[in-house]
Amino acid sequence: MQAGPPRLPFCASEALAEGHHLKLKMVFEGRDEECLLVRHSGRCYAYINRCVHMPRPLDCEKDRVFDHSGRYLRCSMHGIVYTPETGTSVSALCEGEQLRTVAIYEENGEIGIADWRVGRIGPLPRADV
Ligand code: FES
Repeated sequence: MQAGPPRLPFCASEALAEGHHLKLKMVFEGRDEECLLVRHSGRCYAYINRCVHMPRPLDCEKDRVFDHSGRYLRCSMHGIVYTPETGTSVSALCEGEQLRTVAIYEENGEIGIADWRVGRIGPLPRADV
């Protein structure tokens, strides 16, 4: 049986509350990138923090990534909204385009990265608002 990707622990499950996000730095496909970790409907999802419209982080203008309804991720630059579950744009602008997903795990009260494309992660998480 082939082993899965190495697990890189990041934080305790309780550090990521429902409707909030954390950010971490990582080497992804050999490049320094910022990753967004979000929790929606109890589950965690991770995306490279770069809008599909322009190469801007979703929180470039405001220190938040969920919209006011809490149902969508929203880029603060021009307002594209994404489904938290798939990172897909549901706005007319760039409709159907997707944020880049990062594979993660949540198990035994721990969240971490488990993705062959990720070389390393760090530093420690910053709390969001
Ligand atoms: S840069 Fe994100 S909506 Fe334009």
